[in-house]
Amino acid sequence: MDFVTYGMFSRDQSPTPLANLYGVHPFYMCVEDDSNAHGVLLLNSNAQDVSLSPNPSLTFRTIGGILDFYVFLGPTPENVIQQYTEAIGRPHMPAYWSLGFHLSRWGYASLDVVKKTVKRMHQYDIPFDVQHFDIDYMDRRLDFTYDKTNYAGLPEYIKELKTEGMHSVIILDPFISKDEEPGTYRPYDLGQEMGVWINNSDGVTPAIGKSLPPGYSVFPDYTNPRTVEWWTQLCLEFKDVLDYDGIWIDMNEPSNELTGQLPGCAANDINNPPYIPSITGRSLAQRTLCPDSRTYLGEHYNTHSLFGWSQTAPTFHVVQQATGKRAFVLSRSTFVGSGKHAAHWLGDNNSKWKDMHYSIIGMLEFNLFGIPFVGADICGFNSNTTYELCLRWTQLGSFYPFSRNHNAEGNAAQDPAVFGAEFAKIARSTLRIRYSLLPYLYTLFFESHVHGNTVVRSLMHEFTSDQQTHGIDTAFLWGPAFMVAPVLQEGARSVDVYFPEATWFDYYTGKKIPSTWHKTYATVHAPLNKIPLFIRGGHILPEQAPASTTTKSRLNPFGLIIALDEHGEASGSLFWDDGDSIDTIENENYFLAKYTFRAGRLTTEILKNGYRGADSLKYHKITILGLKRRPHAVAVNGRAVRSDSFSFELNGKLILGISAPLTQELNLAIH
Ligand code: GLC
Repeated sequence: MDFVTYGMFSRDQSPTPLANLYGVHPFYMCVEDDSNAHGVLLLNSNAQDVSLSPNPSLTFRTIGGILDFYVFLGPTPENVIQQYTEAIGRPHMPAYWSLGFHLSRWGYASLDVVKKTVKRMHQYDIPFDVQHFDIDYMDRRLDFTYDKTNYAGLPEYIKELKTEGMHSVIILDPFISKDEEPGTYRPYDLGQEMGVWINNSDGVTPAIGKSLPPGYSVFPDYTNPRTVEWWTQLCLEFKDVLDYDGIWIDMNEPSNELTGQLPGCAANDINNPPYIPSITGRSLAQRTLCPDSRTYLGEHYNTHSLFGWSQTAPTFHVVQQATGKRAFVLSRSTFVGSGKHAAHWLGDNNSKWKDMHYSIIGMLEFNLFGIPFVGADICGFNSNTTYELCLRWTQLGSFYPFSRNHNAEGNAAQDPAVFGAEFAKIARSTLRIRYSLLPYLYTLFFESHVHGNTVVRSLMHEFTSDQQTHGIDTAFLWGPAFMVAPVLQEGARSVDVYFPEATWFDYYTGKKIPSTWHKTYATVHAPLNKIPLFIRGGHILPEQAPASTTTKSRLNPFGLIIALDEHGEASGSLFWDDGDSIDTIENENYFLAKYTFRAGRLTTEILKNGYRGADSLKYHKITILGLKRRPHAVAVNGRAVRSDSFSFELNGKLILGISAPLTQELNLAIH
């Protein structure tokens, strides 16, 4: 609030404090001193800035469009986001596989290098679901082609990954080269014929810019229904070439190496308005097209920041159509409502400790924006990472909703298997924690999709009246119940963790955090092989035995972690479906259970039992944290459990080995 001004105009810009970045979200949430929260959206896509002062005051300044304000009354922070996403569109339900670990880099250079990398991931048995293919798979960076020399055999390899239960994501850029031999590059020829490009101010001739492909390029205008037809057709045809499962749409701010298209922007009021908001370069054309360019929906002056958003829904729909499954679309540029169709990564960060810290801020912000499926490039994109930074980042990134290691061309490899056995072992064990908790994460996404909750949230969302939580951006929660407190400093072997007033358990030991640590920062041990994790009492988290892919782990037995609060109570739920069919909720093809633990008894209410694929699944393990004494007897579904199938630790942790069907009510009694 200290007299800062934030500019908003989508831009190809590495995450930098105060700079206008890839996406535009003219939305804020305010928490008053009395803990009441509200939100305000100015639904406006023009270049704008927002000035804050400690009065407190906030001033929106936009240079076009209409003043379409929405107020969300809360009163809790979660209520604000539920109301906001009700207005702008709830986040989509992600495919289960896309919650697994993703590996990517720009500059593998050849398919052989990709294969070697995948192989070493498998050798160390590091959980890994998705391989990304960046622009180097393309022939000379031309969309809808692949490099038949360096990536010879790519179609077969993608099929092979599929048979191993893995998935593939390919990148597509929004530039279509206009300088290929006529008749040799169908994406251009067809687009030209259909008239799908952004035009110059004359509204007839295509705007010509320069970016990754050779020569000069034109830019598809996704606000035009004809462009959607063109794109849909090309993506469908390309599916027969590369059997992709998801599409990564990049550079869609839209980015351009030139300032405006050829031959530069005309001197007029649209290109040079009397006020230019506080954006980088104070130029509306820098790294993009001239404001007076024409799109179907209007002047680029008005629609610029909608480019990525307008590309997202059509891409989502064509991925659904092409795969017949739930779509995975990863978009760099986002606008209000993008979360309905896209996941997002935070862009071209640096392999620096402070960038790792920023990633938590970005992740929390995008959860406010209704785009909870978010993460940053693990280990950093620009410049070489280091062993320790990459290790700590792998630990943190194991808890990004979107968990992907990605790297820029020319940098040393940084996949979790490249640093040797010790690193790989730590990456494996941390990712196995992620995988074991995926049923909990998936259930949070269900809540987000249906009720609009955040998936990752700040401590402030759960402990709003505790003012000390308001400034915390070094730790975060998965839903209400799981706290991640990563190491963010080089050389550190401990973390100062703030514990709001609640019952907390150490995830690793099940030991209760002493109440003297409540409402203070406590120093928690964090050797290199460990990221501090805590479970909040009062909650039940579903888990599942991990495996090398989610395709395999989805067949494994389930467990419940029952973390008791000070009254010996806890509750939670599990959402389960086949993980990748479209509209399972609308079609009622899912399983939903609610668990309640009270007075020594666990009861299960099955709210929906519509997914027959769950019938073969079982519970095998119940963990109860926070018991006051060793139980005399335990019964599961009315039958006594033999004492050799449970173990009790003096710190109050009970582990029960059981075998009970998932789709029947699970009842437990502890005496
Ligand atoms: C952009 C993307 C980055 C990608 C690169 C090459 O910089 O943000 O993720 O690797 O382009 O496609």
